[in-house]
Amino acid sequence: MKKFCLGIESTAHTWGVGIVDFKGEVHTLINDTFIPEKGGLHPALVREHHLNNFAKIIDKALLEANLSIKDINLVAFSQSPGLAPVLKIGALVARMLSQILKVPLVGVNHCIAHVEIGRLMCKIEDPLTLYVSGGNTIISAYESNRYQIFGETLDLAVGNMIDSFARDAGLSHPGGPKIEKLALRSKKYIQLPYIVKGMDLSFSGIYTAAKRLIESPDFNNKYNLNDVANSLQETAFAMLTEVTERALAHTEIKEVLLTGGVAANKRLQQMIQYISDEHDARFEVVPLKYAGDNGAMIAWTGILRYLSEGGHEMTETIIKPKERMDNITVPWRLEKKT
Ligand code: ATP
Ligand code: FE2
Repeated sequence: MKKFCLGIESTAHTWGVGIVDFKGEVHTLINDTFIPEKGGLHPALVREHHLNNFAKIIDKALLEANLSIKDINLVAFSQSPGLAPVLKIGALVARMLSQILKVPLVGVNHCIAHVEIGRLMCKIEDPLTLYVSGGNTIISAYESNRYQIFGETLDLAVGNMIDSFARDAGLSHPGGPKIEKLALRSKKYIQLPYIVKGMDLSFSGIYTAAKRLIESPDFNNKYNLNDVANSLQETAFAMLTEVTERALAHTEIKEVLLTGGVAANKRLQQMIQYISDEHDARFEVVPLKYAGDNGAMIAWTGILRYLSEGGHEMTETIIKPKERMDNITVPWRLEKKT
């Protein structure tokens, strides 16, 4: 008989529920994303959104998977990293389900979950992963029983930087896809701060400089928004590409995985494809449904952990808003790799 894990994603604006069986087949994935009317992500508003919707989305997921709550054998939830008030709701609902259903509970690191669902969906064994989203910018690979971080942002995540600039330019949230469209209409490059420190990246300089460009008297005179969008993408993505390439050269890994919401961007895909080809590495973009935040990635990673070391004790399921992916061992990889 099939066994099922219900996974809850609740680190930021998405309340996501996924149901995955222990063999890795995804039976459903339902996302309910809070979209702010204006401004950034206000934790109190996201919290209210998740509190108002959590049961509805769980019901919807069960209905779509044609399952009853009693068919669930394991509950997994995003335990780290994320916004504390929002993480708490996922943890509370997961603890409640686990106690009522009397099934084991597993806390999952959100960043590790992005890698694991990518490995599952792209049938990739041992990738170097570029994970780029609204809240994260991380280049990681497996080494010594952990997903080690080879490079990361020192300030803003690249998706957040693009969204913030887009908002300043009067575009609605999320700005990433809109900036991509505008950039396609320009071939002009205006120099912006290119900041790579060692293997780490900084995007706040690009943001400030790009904002200045659209506030300048030269805007819509010497250059337009398409040109700024193109320059912003070219600079930020070249930085990501440089660090990814250096990690590839250092690790000699032969598989590259691109994931997170920004993975949808065709120009970024093109750049990472190029360096992967140069290093004879296979390149895969995680299918977009699974690249953004979702409950299926939490469920699948919960299954992997549960199968290798069992569930967590209730006392181990406290949320960890700042926990890094390289702080956590991944025993299911150890079993496979020499
Ligand atoms: P995380 O919690 O992992 O940081 P998130 O909450 O940002 O994720 P995601 O769905 O992974 O959610 O990513 C959303 C981000 O992806 C937004 O910043 C959005 O602008 C960006 N994005 C989506 N499509 C594109 C695109 N075509 N080009 C650039 N950015 C994009
Ligand atoms: Fe994410």
